[in-house]
Amino acid sequence: MISSVRGTKDILPEEMPIWYFIEKTLQEVSSLFGFKEIRLPIFEKTEVFQRSIGEATDVVRKEMYTFVDRGGDSITLRPELTASVVRAVIQHNLLSESPLLRLWYYGPLFRYERPQKGRLRQFHQYGAEIIGSSHPEADVEILLLANSIIKKLGISEYTLLINSLGNLKSRLKYREILVSYLKQHSNELSVESRERLGKNPLRVLDSKDPNDLEIIQNSPLIYDFLDEESKEHYNNTKMMLKEYGISFKEYPYLVRGLDYYSHTVFEFQSSFLGSQDAFGGGGRYNELFTQFSQKNDIPSIGFALGIERIVLILESQGIEFKQENPKVFVAYNDSKFIPKVLEIAQKLREFGISTIFDLQRRSLKAQLKDANKKGVSYTIIIGEEEINNQTISIKNMQDGNQFTIEIRKGIEFLINELK
Ligand code: HAM
Repeated sequence: MISSVRGTKDILPEEMPIWYFIEKTLQEVSSLFGFKEIRLPIFEKTEVFQRSIGEATDVVRKEMYTFVDRGGDSITLRPELTASVVRAVIQHNLLSESPLLRLWYYGPLFRYERPQKGRLRQFHQYGAEIIGSSHPEADVEILLLANSIIKKLGISEYTLLINSLGNLKSRLKYREILVSYLKQHSNELSVESRERLGKNPLRVLDSKDPNDLEIIQNSPLIYDFLDEESKEHYNNTKMMLKEYGISFKEYPYLVRGLDYYSHTVFEFQSSFLGSQDAFGGGGRYNELFTQFSQKNDIPSIGFALGIERIVLILESQGIEFKQENPKVFVAYNDSKFIPKVLEIAQKLREFGISTIFDLQRRSLKAQLKDANKKGVSYTIIIGEEEINNQTISIKNMQDGNQFTIEIRKGIEFLINELK
């Protein structure tokens, strides 16, 4: 047997209703906030991600699916979508049409991570980006959108953690202070954190190692190194969040796995998820456009939600989604009546009534059993007598009542009953 690749997941028919529900909710709430969808390629030139996500990040160093294609170009399956959005905005000059863009996207992403509950190598994200505003109301708007989606999905318990990484100047100053503090403790740090200390010191703050935690909890706080501009942005954002009733918890050690962030960063956590507890995250990226050889910075902010993790949360909350059963089963007692069966089934479908019939020429008894199993509301039965008299027999599957009626009237009856 050939099985699927480790870290990928088949979404089977019985799981689809929850996905449809999530996808419909994402579309509806995005439109409510005036966001427009953008669909981007599954793969990009490797440099799109290398440049933006950061050479020192885990994603670029260890997790990208990168290959050389037959034309000799280095290609990467997208590990995230913000970089692709920025690439597309610049390529199509979208900001010349409108100086502020509200965009959303949805689709599969690829990261070569160690698979575990809620962590896959192919997973799905919904994301939204506001491109072109540096003001705190854009931060609030993006969090209002995220919150509205989460609530509309029915996720009842979660925590929004926020922090500010400030502007580049503040971040560099903090980085220096943090490195000198961590160096004093480098012997006590885990191997992974020691490695990060050399390459990407802020990420040490993300360590889950219990020994590291003690060192982290005594480390200098980034807030104390933010310059006036950065502090003002952070404080105004927090004030507005409170005004709009968005609950959050400040977490001064929140750093994100991607390097392009500045100022506000945030994560949504759920206790239903175990160790991979973040079902969404995002932040500002005021300095990202210049990484793509754009002359001016375009201040922007966005977030993404992990759909598989949302499915896990909804399932642990015991919310059940069921696919609607077909409404009508057309049964026959002789295969020579199949043309009539097809004609009737097709007529009902034209009126929007979902209809199925047997494709294996089984006995009438087996067909009726199947109709019952499929949970249809009505079964039409076509036999010799019905064909001769241009009628159909209709069985109500709820109460078992059955009657015979002229074909056209029978179809009208079903349309009235089932529409
Ligand atoms: P991220 O935090 O890397 O951010 O991913 C966002 C969410 O995607 C995570 O919170 C998680 O729910 C889900 N996720 C990430 N990796 C996996 C995985 N291996 N398996 C399952 N789910 C996963 C970003 O990707 C940024 N582009 C978000 C953003 C948009 N920032 C600004 N704009």
